[in-house]
Amino acid sequence: MPGVFQLSPDELLREASQAHGLGVPAVLIFGIPASKDTAAAGAYARNGIVQQAVRLLKRELPELVVITDVCLCEYMSHGHCGIVQRDKAGARILNDPTLKLLARTAASHAEAGADIVAPSDMMDGRVRAIRQALDRSGFTSTPIMSYAAKFASAFYGPFREAAESAPGFGDRRSYQMHPANALEALREVALDIQEGADIVIVKPALACLDVLHRVKMEFGYPTAAYAVSAEYSMIKAASANGWIDESAVTLESLLAMRRAGADILITYAAKEAAQWLKEGRA
Ligand code: PBG
Ligand code: ZN
Repeated sequence: MPGVFQLSPDELLREASQAHGLGVPAVLIFGIPASKDTAAAGAYARNGIVQQAVRLLKRELPELVVITDVCLCEYMSHGHCGIVQRDKAGARILNDPTLKLLARTAASHAEAGADIVAPSDMMDGRVRAIRQALDRSGFTSTPIMSYAAKFASAFYGPFREAAESAPGFGDRRSYQMHPANALEALREVALDIQEGADIVIVKPALACLDVLHRVKMEFGYPTAAYAVSAEYSMIKAASANGWIDESAVTLESLLAMRRAGADILITYAAKEAAQWLKEGRA
């Protein structure tokens, strides 16, 4: 992914502190473990890579809001977001057994000091499972920012390459939503809110501005737009070719997400956008 790298905790600290200095209020972190297995052990390891990174960030930059992506795909040898059962009929995702691992992962992030946890797996019932686990471990005030309306999108390609989390077989269509389904997106958001989500995410952003707007209008909830990896990479590629003005197109895209109803923007261009806004390019 152009300009996006896998970082060690010390490199992350440098990057986060630059971003924070430019006015970026929060970071969303993803982990890539040293080794993967079929139980995603690295996701909830006490000294896992995310847990280490969170402790370091909260110690050195206490003002920076640290949000952790809660998912299993980066930690699974097969690259799926849940536990996979293989049998004669093929392979399938076991929804309910996966909830325990997600809840354990979220609690371990909170224990390391995460300010907000952000489940991105799209298993049914995971917000409730995570809320219960957080409450039981004493993290009653740790909010959940759920990827509530997350489509099975072709726009995640560059991320999966960067995060080494592409599924080794099959696809994610049994747990992520079909991009044609607007009403299902609203139902997913309603369920996540019922289960205890504090902030809801719509993803991808530009291809789903209609959904973003409907979610904000219907629920009036704190709503985030996630400008995903291909949205960002396409702007980078076109501007590298001299076809578009990178800062103008990036800022106009982010503005469109705000206009559609996003209170929060999640973007790989956060540092650059903050810099451009400082320079008065909006
Ligand atoms: C992990 C996860 C993904 C993204 C965020 N969390 C990938 C996926 O669901 O395949 C996508 C991010 C992006 O493309 O920028 N579940
Ligand atoms: Zn995942």
